[in-house]
Amino acid sequence: MSRSRNGVAVRPARYGFFFLALLICICAWALPASAQPELTQSGIATAHPLATRAGEEILAAGGNAFDAAVAISAALAVVEPYASGLGGGGFWLLHEAETGRQVLIDGREVAPAAATRDMYLDAQGKPQAGLSVSGPLAAGIPGEPAALAHLAKNYGRLPLATSLAPAIRYAEQGIEVSRGIGMGLMFRAEAARNSPAFSAIYMPGGKPVEAGATLRFRDLARTLRKLAADGHDGFYRGSVARRMVTGVQAAGGIWTRDDLAAYKVVEREPIRVQYRDATLVMAPPPSSGGVVIGDSLNILRAWDLGKLQSVERKHLTVEAMRRAYRDRAMYLGDPAFVSMPIERLLNPWYADGQRTSIRLDRATPSDDLPGIAPAAGGGTNTTHFSVLDKAGNRVAGTLSINTWFGAVFIPPGTGVILNNEMDDFSAKAGTPNSFELLGADANAIAPGKRMLSSMSPSFIESPRGVAILGTPGGSRIISMVLLSALAWMDGADAREMVSLKRYHHQYYPDVVVHEEGAFTVEEKTGLEARGHKLELSPRSFGNMQVVTWDRKTGRVDAASDPRGGGEVTVY
Ligand code: DON
Repeated sequence: MSRSRNGVAVRPARYGFFFLALLICICAWALPASAQPELTQSGIATAHPLATRAGEEILAAGGNAFDAAVAISAALAVVEPYASGLGGGGFWLLHEAETGRQVLIDGREVAPAAATRDMYLDAQGKPQAGLSVSGPLAAGIPGEPAALAHLAKNYGRLPLATSLAPAIRYAEQGIEVSRGIGMGLMFRAEAARNSPAFSAIYMPGGKPVEAGATLRFRDLARTLRKLAADGHDGFYRGSVARRMVTGVQAAGGIWTRDDLAAYKVVEREPIRVQYRDATLVMAPPPSSGGVVIGDSLNILRAWDLGKLQSVERKHLTVEAMRRAYRDRAMYLGDPAFVSMPIERLLNPWYADGQRTSIRLDRATPSDDLPGIAPAAGGGTNTTHFSVLDKAGNRVAGTLSINTWFGAVFIPPGTGVILNNEMDDFSAKAGTPNSFELLGADANAIAPGKRMLSSMSPSFIESPRGVAILGTPGGSRIISMVLLSALAWMDGADAREMVSLKRYHHQYYPDVVVHEEGAFTVEEKTGLEARGHKLELSPRSFGNMQVVTWDRKTGRVDAASDPRGGGEVTVY
């Protein structure tokens, strides 16, 4: 055998071919999976075509997946202003190909220093729901700007300013009013009236902007430019911080300059759970995603789900969700404030115990499980993106300002829509929040504490390849990621994962909420006969974005949820 190198014929030694083949096999086995040579494409899936293009632009400019993640996150802040943004937070799950290192960048909001446990209760101790949902009192100290600066500085190849450039351009040139913006305003127009800076953009003349009109965001562009020029401090100190605190306080909020100056991102070790031949790499607390998905899979692993009838499979999946969401309500919160029995919750022995109360022929009423008694929902606000670059770097990012348009409040002069993530705390033990989630002391409000989240950016790694996934959807995020992970491990492709019809159980309320088509007539009958209460969701739920890489063929695939208006690219 001979081949040509620089025009010189090279004849390998007699056993050369054998040793070369052996070496290739050993390297392929020893290298981190994603560093294997057959990855020749990048893949991006986001909830908006302009965000996907921002990622593409940055990869083409020599950036890696982490730079692309910065560009996509910032672009989403402009083009999906109702879902995430500089006034909110998120989790960015990273895989660095060169080192194999995996880390979760926690840019979750924190409660301001003046927050108190009972701040949303009236004199009679009753929750005043509105206060944690609209206006500046509903807003935690944002984490997204800090996370973007951190990502660029520690993981990116390009300057922050380069990665923020597409978002700044979108903000300055303007974007068309989308269906999402229209929907968000439909839900939040009333609250918007209390923020003149918000109304000036979205409700000119007191009426929601019309589809097709162009919105320009001059203040937001200026804030993005400050972040681009001065990094972290450009947002958390100086003129932007001053404007934010002045605006918040003037409208009855409790933020101080110190709260902003004190904000820090936290790097966290992901949760890893083995299921069959796959490893799931997931978000740890203050996200509840990794624990709840891991706990559910541990419960399910005792059955060969593929061999069961579909109704049994779905029944068992619901029972696993019920138990794992109960643990969420009971135990989970910010690790800096509560000690959580995570190792126990993820221990196979624990799942063995949980399984003993599961019957194949009957649903377990949630009231029969030990624990807290009452308190489900989800929309397509919040946002998720998945990126894989040719080097094998990956990012799964789920970002949020919580419900549509967050607190529906913009501190004048900043262009920044504040989150209403304070509602993700448990305002009162046993009282459901906007997503009908229950919580206990572990998720009570405390100054500087991160509120428990359901955002679940995840990787699945197996001999088949890698899947990068996540979705918005409030409390339903976790069950959506669980169902799609199970589907991928059963051979589904990216498109099937995002299109899958969804069902959900979150302990309380004790109902299986489902999309049209999630169950066949036979399955419905079978589930009802077991005592499950089924509730058809009036709306579809989720907006999942998935990128997959097939280890054998080297093929990269990306899919965006048909329920949303996202776009993917593979090249
Ligand atoms: O962190 C959480 O769990 C929520 N703030 C996510 C909100 C969400 O997904 C809303 N979208 N439908």
